[in-house]
Amino acid sequence: MVKQRNKIAVIGAGNVGATCAFVLAQKKLGDIVLLDIFEGFAKGKALDMSQDGQVLNYDGNITGTSNYEDIAGSDVVVVTSGFPRQPGMSREDLIGKNADIISQVGAGIKEHAPDSIIVMVTNPLDLMTYHMREVTGFPSHRVVGQAGILDSARMTHFIAKAVGCSEEDVQAMVLGGHGDTMVPLPRYTTVGGISVDQLLDDETIASICERTAKGGGEIVKLLEKGSAFYAPGSAAAIMAEAIVMDRKRLIPASAHLKGEYGLDDVYIGVPIILGANGVERIMELELTDAELESLQGSGNFYKQQLSELLGY
Ligand code: NAI
Ligand code: 2OP
Repeated sequence: MVKQRNKIAVIGAGNVGATCAFVLAQKKLGDIVLLDIFEGFAKGKALDMSQDGQVLNYDGNITGTSNYEDIAGSDVVVVTSGFPRQPGMSREDLIGKNADIISQVGAGIKEHAPDSIIVMVTNPLDLMTYHMREVTGFPSHRVVGQAGILDSARMTHFIAKAVGCSEEDVQAMVLGGHGDTMVPLPRYTTVGGISVDQLLDDETIASICERTAKGGGEIVKLLEKGSAFYAPGSAAAIMAEAIVMDRKRLIPASAHLKGEYGLDDVYIGVPIILGANGVERIMELELTDAELESLQGSGNFYKQQLSELLGY
């Protein structure tokens, strides 16, 4: 029997969605459907990417659409549709407009790709991931949010520059919400297996944690229009890869907590195992009192926002 090709749908053909699709194509993970509310926009990007196949040595189908029927049979749906931040805006400022978009998109996924695993990207990430789970009624392990790979990659970059080493040798860990309450964890950060505190002084580590937590805002300010997309789109593609290839990656991602870390019924960034079944395990790290307090502070902030802004 011929093995069926993987199918990955990317909702939103804007900066993050198109970058994600482009990385997926280069990784040769299967057929890609790019869906946007603007049909021509999605079709144009899909055709452009398809025509890059010979140049970059990939094949398979990359198609654009505005019709949810075309996402039927998707193994993974990456959701990037929604407004990005502009200078002066927090991620939470996007909530009203983006919640409506996620309600529409969630209904389309529920009807046409009911067995898929959803990787959320739209901001405010932890709130929109919770909202998507509610809209679709999918079990928690099939709705996960991308933030931790990106935030850890930002911390990795700053550490590699400070140490003067390859980014490949740095393993950083950033938990908590994808916003100002983010929790970088230097105690769980290593360079070639060596704890980062043996290589950098406390002041440098503290300033790297601060720059990491404000990493998205730094790029928004520089761009003056829109927000980061190369690293975010790639991070979402890596999560889709972990699912379709059942890689069982241990990564930080926004997952639904049910008592872990003393938090209940909230999505927040924690270490997970991501594989063919979605969130296969939530890892509970041993944290110091201060680290746990920061993580719980972040979780409680989002719990309050869910109730005040989304009525959950
Ligand atoms: P963008 O404006 O370039 O693209 C968004 C796309 O969504 C547009 O093409 C738009 O037509 C489409 N769209 C809007 N409403 C839609 C609907 N109802 N159905 C289908 N498509 C719809 O924005 P960008 O830069 O791609 O960012 C997308 C989202 O990702 C934003 O909310 C942004 O804040 C978030 N983001 C999240 C990150 C994370 O780490 N979780 C990192 C970077 C961005
Ligand atoms: C970022 O962190 C804005 O969430 C987006 O770049």
